[in-house]
Amino acid sequence: MQASLDLKEEILALKKSRNAVILVHNYQTGDIQDLGDYVGDSLGLAYQAKETDADVIVFCGVHFMAETAKIVNPEKIVVLPDKDAGCSLEQSCPAPQLEAFLKENADKNYYVIAYINCSGAVKALCDVICTSGNAVKIVNQAPADRPILFVPDENLGAWVMEQTGRKMDLWKGNCYVHVEFTRDSIHAIKAEFPDALVVAHPECTQAVRLLADEVCSTEKMVTYVKNAPVKNIIVVTESGMLHRLRKEAPDKNLIAGPTDRCACADCRYMKMNTLEKLRDCLENLEPRVEMDESIRKRAEAPLLRMLEQSK
Ligand code: 13P
Ligand code: SF4
Repeated sequence: MQASLDLKEEILALKKSRNAVILVHNYQTGDIQDLGDYVGDSLGLAYQAKETDADVIVFCGVHFMAETAKIVNPEKIVVLPDKDAGCSLEQSCPAPQLEAFLKENADKNYYVIAYINCSGAVKALCDVICTSGNAVKIVNQAPADRPILFVPDENLGAWVMEQTGRKMDLWKGNCYVHVEFTRDSIHAIKAEFPDALVVAHPECTQAVRLLADEVCSTEKMVTYVKNAPVKNIIVVTESGMLHRLRKEAPDKNLIAGPTDRCACADCRYMKMNTLEKLRDCLENLEPRVEMDESIRKRAEAPLLRMLEQSK
């Protein structure tokens, strides 16, 4: 207990001496969330990264999130506790593959919308970026006379098509965590808590989304849970979300959505970050996110377009 207290104090002292800001995604472990200057979803974190006047951004999340912070802050030092914290969605859409696909289909003149869960090189190939929090808004603003290619999440893409009525061609990628929830696993937990409401992330499959009372980004889950007229709520997303929700809505009974194999779902990439690694990256200012300047510039345009369009 004492060791962990000392570690927290060490982190806070280093944060001050480095003039750093600690940005934390909702899926991080509770001890990291509690040290964050801001805890939120990808959209909120992108705005925070854009607006901060700190010299150093410590990004407690996965690599593409830290890279997003670097894209809008080329002059700042951006570090993340574990450089190997990746994302299965990012891996499912390598930039050379997307580039080849766009070349082969040049006659289609696609308007390319990329979910923010992708590499900077993929962002550089797109017209606009979106997050789960603003995907509907962004798709609604796409030019009506061009076909849309949506990368890399086929489940989020399918949900946005249902919401907007806009047809899109979908890249065949998915989140390995959210596709673990099944119709059977959610039916089973609903049978245990028959009066509970179900809130699910749009990265879940359609079979699971159809069982949900609300489908939304992690940040919108906070508002949904706070305002829900019932006590029991089943939360169908990564387990870190439960810490944030329990803090924000202590009067609610929040139940982790189970998979067929586990009582809850952890993202192994999000969980690579630890307090020790957080302390070390503040101390050493490593590992840093670095980007090729020409890719960064090309990735910045669609990212800034997103921030503008989702105001
Ligand atoms: P949010 O933007 O909704 O927080 O989602 C990020 C993510 O990685 C979901 O798996
Ligand atoms: Fe990527 Fe899924 Fe982990 Fe989110 S939960 S960071 S989409 S692998």
